[in-house]
Amino acid sequence: MRTDDPQTGASSFGQVYLRQATPADADGMATVFGIAFDDYRRGLGVDAVTLGAMWHPSFSARVEVSTVAVSAVGDVVGFIISVPPGVEEFRRDSRPRARPRFPEMMGWRNMWRLPATFGPMGLAFARRRTRPDEGYVSMLAVRPDWQGKGVARSLLLGVEGAMVRAGASGVLLHTAARNQAAQRAYRRAGYRVVRTLRSPWTDPAGINAYVAMRKDLEVLRPLSR
Ligand SMILES: CC(C)(COP(=O)(O)OP(=O)(O)OC[C@H]1O[C@@H](n2cnc3c(N)ncnc32)[C@H](O)[C@@H]1OP(=O)(O)O)[C@@H](O)C(=O)NCCC(=O)NCCS
Repeated sequence: MRTDDPQTGASSFGQVYLRQATPADADGMATVFGIAFDDYRRGLGVDAVTLGAMWHPSFSARVEVSTVAVSAVGDVVGFIISVPPGVEEFRRDSRPRARPRFPEMMGWRNMWRLPATFGPMGLAFARRRTRPDEGYVSMLAVRPDWQGKGVARSLLLGVEGAMVRAGASGVLLHTAARNQAAQRAYRRAGYRVVRTLRSPWTDPAGINAYVAMRKDLEVLRPLSR
């Protein structure tokens, strides 16, 4: 991560450290998600707090595959959900998951927005899913006041070790074709577009295509004796 003073590591914007998420981080992840994802807010017609609340259970179910970037004062300022090959993204347990009440949160009149947004996304993603030896970056977000400081890059690089150890030859991700900020961050971290995936219709946020991006990883070979 960029620092202003190579001796101390101190910087004008402060420092963050990365760590494995814990269940308590679902709150911070939901907050960052609600603020950072303009597309989802526009598409679903909700505000940042509502968007965060809608996704909170989904973050709780994914803490095992989440890494958070935490500021010096302990705030979650960014996170990545990264799934090594062979690992389930969502925790499977017998306890019933708290289900968000979407109609109450969004309003019944807005419910059409869910399939209108996620239908084309799902159909587009299906055209280039992960292969058995690929890891997957399912989500990446950085709080807007922390963007442009290398947090996303650190998160992307930070999860690569676990991917390699799990035998991944590469990592795949999807993002909206017009999300230039994300693609730039991914390119800087070594990802390249491998496929453009047209959506069958333009979603309520105006997205009509996604890209699949992949980064090759060095596969670990056992040491020869
Ligand atoms: C995409 C995102 C995660 C990048 O996070 P970040 O911490 O700002 O990324 P980095 O600081 O590592 O920056 C990577 C590059 O993107 C640039 N960048 C970051 N945000 C930008 C923005 N909003 N507009 C233009 N460029 C931007 C940075 O300047 C940097 O370029 P540089 O190194 O050549 O100067 C962040 O913008 C975000 O959370 N966006 C909303 C959610 C999202 O789109 N997530 C990804 C899609 S799944």
